[in-house]
Amino acid sequence: MSDILVSARGLEVHFPLRGGKGVLRAVDGVDLDIYRGETLGLVGESGCGKSTLGNALLRLVPPTAGTVTFDGTDLTALGRRAMREMRRRAGMVFQDPFASLDPRRTVAQTVSEPLEVHGLRSGRRERAARVGELLELVGLDPAVAGRYPHEFSGGQRQRVGIARALAGEPDFLVCDEAIASLDVSVQAQVLNLLRRLQRQLGLTLLFISHDLSAIRHISDRIAVMYLGRIVEIGPASAVGSTPQMPYTQALLSAVPVPHPELERTRQRIVLRGDVPSPAAVPSGCRFRTRCPAAFEPCPDVDPALQPVGTAPDHVAACHLHGVIGTPVDGRTAEDVSAAPVD
Ligand SMILES: Nc1ncnc2c1ncn2[C@@H]1O[C@H](COP(=O)(O)OP(=O)(O)OP(=O)(O)O)[C@@H](O)[C@H]1O
Ligand code: SF4
Ligand SMILES: [Mg+2]
Repeated sequence: MSDILVSARGLEVHFPLRGGKGVLRAVDGVDLDIYRGETLGLVGESGCGKSTLGNALLRLVPPTAGTVTFDGTDLTALGRRAMREMRRRAGMVFQDPFASLDPRRTVAQTVSEPLEVHGLRSGRRERAARVGELLELVGLDPAVAGRYPHEFSGGQRQRVGIARALAGEPDFLVCDEAIASLDVSVQAQVLNLLRRLQRQLGLTLLFISHDLSAIRHISDRIAVMYLGRIVEIGPASAVGSTPQMPYTQALLSAVPVPHPELERTRQRIVLRGDVPSPAAVPSGCRFRTRCPAAFEPCPDVDPALQPVGTAPDHVAACHLHGVIGTPVDGRTAEDVSAAPVD
């Protein structure tokens, strides 16, 4: 049994632009392995392609190019029955629990639907018992099974959404901004619930968020996405404390430090300009138009992911770590991370 549960190679999801001229490169060449039993955090600014990548890994959007394998099986080659089994084994927790729950269905109906679809509990009584177990698992009183979504708070609704996602006994869950629409006070509770469930059930999680604090809290590894690509990935401790790619350094510099002394001296790297359109990706390094460290090879050569830092499995796509050229002013990655811009 391989340690890798989900794998993407050369994955592209391009959307045709209106008018038929050109394409929007939502996912633009992603190689990614997600290990069994880990939580991989996927972070990046709005529009960088996180949801599209998550959807493509679940085969909810078809790839334009590349492959996705789940537990060693190529998803493009699956027949209908195998696809249904894959849908049971890999699910999604959505951002907005209110929008994702049917207001006319009770919690019991919502949570038992996957049991019926996948034929997991045959009788009505067995299904009701399983719904009770699932509600308890996510910290809800089984007595709420007969209630409707509007009778719950946002945090409770998200717990119902998680119970439904767990009903098929999945191996893999994509949590796409699963705490983003919750009150700050409730976010930590749901985050801790996801972490507990991941450990208790041995789940593999792809936790998508634009919130680096949440990502650092829950992830074993962190992947950073920019304009359709993964530009840095590695153990959460390494990426979180010694980021090697200027984009990751800028993202992290914006996260408040829960230590008054350190917070006072925190130097924020303010990136210039806006994120370019994924319909007009810059040549060479796609981050070069905003990179405070860009140097001669950056407009011409697209950097590949390569080992960086000291942790094994920590890779980043940046010429500062490469063999191509040297920074014009002799800067190193460490110098760049130490020097605030603006
Ligand atoms: N079905 C679609 N058709 C056309 N363009 C799309 C479609 N889905 C996503 N896009 C575009 O693809 C790009 C990536 O979108 P995506 O939703 O994956 O980003 P994201 O990182 O999840 O953003 P957010 O943090 O705001 O959720 C965006 O430019 C978006 O407008
Ligand atoms: S390759 Fe160049 S532009 Fe890209 S992140 Fe590294 S230094 Fe910046
Ligand atoms: Mg999204």
